[in-house]
Amino acid sequence: MLTNLEHLGLAVRDLAAATDLYTRLLGQPPYKSEHVASEAVDTVFFQIGGSKIELLAGTGPESAITKFLEKKPEGIHHVAFEVDDIEAEMARLRAEGFVLLTETPKRGADNKLVCFVHPKSAGGVLVELCQTADLTDSTDSADTGLRP
Ligand code: CO
Repeated sequence: MLTNLEHLGLAVRDLAAATDLYTRLLGQPPYKSEHVASEAVDTVFFQIGGSKIELLAGTGPESAITKFLEKKPEGIHHVAFEVDDIEAEMARLRAEGFVLLTETPKRGADNKLVCFVHPKSAGGVLVELCQTADLTDSTDSADTGLRP
């Protein structure tokens, strides 16, 4: 089941400028920055109570964030819900008629297994399911950690 609104993903063009802006807006620095090579994105995370803000900047033309910003202004890119069993939630959503972007969970940022729901089947919102996982041996995701 869905257990928490885990984070909002915000697409930004200039990650350093956005990090500065959100540091001032939220009154606290980010707790983590991470490059996700498989998604061609750089990310920065802020913790707000039980939820997070994830800033995302594309690192190449193949990045979904780069493509998003070719069509849309900066702002909310996706809404992420924490789940306790991502495979079970994917099966439940498939049975409900939602279109999932991948057949199996994939490695996301911040030690998560993730799966996205197509916005065309979810009211125009890109929905992410994420489950905390120990991905410390991940080879496609380098943690550049602002803090341990
Ligand atoms: Co996300």
